[in-house]
This record gives sequence, C-alpha cells and structure tokens, in this order.
Amino acid sequence: MNPNEKKYAPLGGLDVLEGEERRHQPEPIIRVWDIVVRSGHWLLVALFAILYFKSGKFPLHAYAGLAIMGIVVFRIVWGFVGGRAARFSSFLYSPAAAFRYFLQALGGHAPYHASHNPMGAWMVYLLILLLLANGVLGMMYYSTSQQLGPLGDMVPVEWDEMLENVHFVVGHATAALVLVHMLGVVWAAHAHRENYVTAMFTGFKRVPRDAERSALDGYSIHSDEVVARPLAATERWFNTRRPAIGSLLIVLAVVAAVFALSQVAILFNDDLPVF
Ligand code: HEM
Ligand code: HEM
Repeated sequence: MNPNEKKYAPLGGLDVLEGEERRHQPEPIIRVWDIVVRSGHWLLVALFAILYFKSGKFPLHAYAGLAIMGIVVFRIVWGFVGGRAARFSSFLYSPAAAFRYFLQALGGHAPYHASHNPMGAWMVYLLILLLLANGVLGMMYYSTSQQLGPLGDMVPVEWDEMLENVHFVVGHATAALVLVHMLGVVWAAHAHRENYVTAMFTGFKRVPRDAERSALDGYSIHSDEVVARPLAATERWFNTRRPAIGSLLIVLAVVAAVFALSQVAILFNDDLPVF
C-alpha cells in the first residue's frame, strides 16, 4: 500500500466524532481522475479553443477536429476499461435522476458523487456525442466543399449547403454547451463546496465532510501528505474555503491560456500539410 494511502479515519471516524473534535478533522482526500482522463480533458480544451476561436483557418481546423475525435473515441473505450471514476458504469443516470439531483442541489442537500454527478454526467454524454457527430459532419462538409479530408470526394456535392448549415449550427451549439459546462462546474463548486477544477488537474478530490461513506466505496482514501507542504494553505483555500471563487479563477485563467494558445497555433497553419 502507498505510504500516503491509508484507511483514513475522518469519514468513518467522523460519524462518531462530535462538535469541536469533528471540525478539527481535515476533509479526507480521494483519488478520482486517472492520468488518461485528465490529460484527455485538457487536450480537448486546448484543441477545442484552437478549433473554435480559429474556425476559418485551414487545415488547422480540420486537424484539431480530427484530433478531438480521436480523443473522444479513446475516452469512450476508456469508459469501459479505465479506472473506477472513469467508467461509464460509475456515472450512468437517467434524465430524471439528473433533474432530481438539480432540485436537491438547489435545496442544499444533493448527495455526494465521487465520479461525475448526475447533471455533470449528462453534460459529459452530450459533449461527447456532439463533438463526435460534428467531427463526422465536418469531414463530410470538407469533402463536399473542398474534396479534401479523409473522405476525399466521396460525399455528394448536392449535400454541401445542408452540411454547411448543420455543421455550423451543431458547432456553435457545442460551444454554447461548453459555456454551460464551465458555469456548471463553478455552480456545482458553490452548491457542493468542492472544487471540481483542481480535481481535474491533480486527480485528487477533497471530500466534503457530510459526504455519505458509501459514495467512496472502491476509491483510495489519502491523507493530507499528498499535498506538498508549501502548497497546503493554497490548496485549502481553493478546495475548502473558497471552492466556487477558486474554480472561477482557474476557469478564467484556463480560457485566457487556451485563447493565447490558439493565437500561437495559427502561426503553424501554413506549415501543416493539406490533406
Ligand atoms: C475552462 C474550461 C474548462 C474547465 C475548467 C473544465 C472543467 C471540467 C471539470 C472540472 C470536469 C469534471 C467534472 C466533474 O467532476 O464531474 C470536466 C469534465 C469534462 N469536460 Fe470540461 N472543462 C472545461 C472545458 C471543456 C471543454 C472545452 C470541453 C470539450 C470541448 C470539455 C469537456 C469535458 C468532458 C468530455 C468531461 C468529462 C471528462 C471525462 O470523464 O473524461 N470541458 N471539465
Ligand atoms: C470535432 C468538432 C468540430 C467542431 C465543434 C467544429 C465546429 C465548426 C464551426 C463552429 C464552424 C463554423 C465557423 C463559423 O463560420 O462560424 C466550422 C466550420 C468548418 N468546419 Fe468544423 N468543427 C469540427 C470538426 C471539423 C472537422 C473534423 C472538419 C474537417 C475535416 C471540419 C471542417 C469544417 C469546414 C470545412 C468549415 C467551414 C469553414 C469556413 O467556411 O471557413 N470541422 N466548424
């Protein structure tokens, strides 16, 4: 067993601790997102920014779109073979469950979920579906408009206008959904007092104290030692003291960073081979 990993008392122990004693126990930390989920997510964010902010730059747009499709397909496979939190079976919910969760969160008593919560899960399904669908539509449109891309001149030219419109609408709808996704992450941080964004960077989550013990079954629980000592105060500020403001600050920083990246990426557009 990893020396930092132990059957940590707080959640089990918290049940029996009271008042002052309970308040002085730190919230436990669990390991959720593996390296595949985390790197896939941030690559997706970078590529989406390049693809969306510079949608008229070719072949850059096509390369970014195809890379996104590759990541999404890989993520789907990972959803069956990956770690505990990454598996679809850890976040399979009906639309009714998502709505129930929304009402519970509004009322301030949403149950804790170590993987995606029911609303987050539906956002993930939708994003995956739309990215994949628009990637295919983009390839088809590239074929009708330029006779280029993996489909060459296979797609009937008569479909050109229809494909242009559908690819345009689905593309902007996906961007709108991404915006809702970012706002949702900040809202959930406020509703749950948990910073989802830092977890997507580090793979670790600090679990709110009132979380149900059963929600952590199958996850490794870690002590505070996984946080480097010089970062301890910052970590607590972002994860427990101000999770919503902390999330918002990181979201803004990421948007600024990927926008800057998209500006740099167009410098390479002319060097990319047209295919
Ligand atoms: C500033 C930008 C973004 C931030 C801060 C962000 C943050 C997050 C967070 C915190 C999660 C985990 C949510 C949870 O715990 O349930 C997540 C999941 C996800 N996000 Fe984002 N996101 C951003 C942009 C995007 C973009 C642009 C896309 C797609 C184009 C995207 C697609 C996804 C997907 C597919 C997942 C599921 C991850 C998985 O299970 O593999 N996100 N995001
Ligand atoms: C994977 C997700 C993708 C998304 C979200 C997406 C999104 C978009 C958006 C929003 C536009 C319209 C830009 C505008 O005029 O406002 C666009 C244009 C276009 N996309 Fe995509 N795209 C994707 C993938 C692809 C792929 C894989 C290809 C080709 C291989 C492609 C080919 C095109 C073409 C040819 C245009 C027209 C550009 C122009 O008229 O200047 N797209 N895309």
